[in-house]
Amino acid sequence: TPQSEAIKIPRSIEEVDNGSLLGFGDDLAEDHPGYLDEEYKARRVMIGNLGRSHKVGQEIPRLQYTDTEIATWKEILDSLEEFFPRFACKEYLDAYALCDFSKEEVPQLQDMSELLQKQSGWSIRPVAGLLHPRDFLNGLAFKTFHSTQYMRHHSKPMYTPEPDVCHELIGHVPMLLNPQYAQLAHEIGLASLGASEKDIWHLTKVYWYTIEFGVVMQEGEAKAFGAGIISSYGEIQHQGAGKATLQKLDPYSKLPKMSYKDGYQQLYMTLDSFEDGVKLLRNFASSRPKSCA
Ligand code: TRP
Ligand code: FE
Repeated sequence: TPQSEAIKIPRSIEEVDNGSLLGFGDDLAEDHPGYLDEEYKARRVMIGNLGRSHKVGQEIPRLQYTDTEIATWKEILDSLEEFFPRFACKEYLDAYALCDFSKEEVPQLQDMSELLQKQSGWSIRPVAGLLHPRDFLNGLAFKTFHSTQYMRHHSKPMYTPEPDVCHELIGHVPMLLNPQYAQLAHEIGLASLGASEKDIWHLTKVYWYTIEFGVVMQEGEAKAFGAGIISSYGEIQHQGAGKATLQKLDPYSKLPKMSYKDGYQQLYMTLDSFEDGVKLLRNFASSRPKSCA
């Protein structure tokens, strides 16, 4: 974007576009586990189109998940439940219990959105895939969480290279019931309103190293709270094994390049506590220069 082109600041969630995607398009790349599965791809497109045509204020369409999809959901929950007590932070354990997920069916985004609205004032808005960072972050300013609705490919439940409904439901929804995690997301969202392209990129990394892949120190150990760790029973074991590098989050410093699509993270950023993280990000967000305000 040329400097002269004004950055549009949305005044409401309706003004945030939910249609411009990054990452995998409808035709999946070779490194996607569903690459050769035509039926899977067609279903993903169909579900993506539901997201594309959704308007703010409408109910999120209810999906009848297939037996294969439900089996994937159940396998993921069964596996994760083995690892959560050891590797997830205590806030997550409480939040997960509150959600009381059924294993016999995949929870509906509409029901989860209603639960969030009631408990925390957040809403879910469906989206066809990985949303453009500015739109995604701007959504957070309006306490709106953009979520995919399709299921990952059944051949590789332990890890998928893109967000899917399991990632949203297991990774994000429980923690959005936690006021401190929700506030971290909100602060990043507020800082993104009217931010320059360069600042959007930096904020995307702050988001990445907290909401997606953050860990928090508890009793001397790095416990997972980031949704990308929590929703993958491959990544949670990798993180829990303690072989990746840990580095204390400093949102003011230049943050390392994100590695995505190419497997587990080699570096996780730590918060000393959620209280600490909220203070840090609140101060950081209020100090961000706005390129137009
Ligand atoms: N690996 C995650 C999972 O299996 C999903 C995922 C892929 C993801 N890429 C991401 C999550 C980027 C957050 C950000 O659940
Ligand atoms: Fe996510």
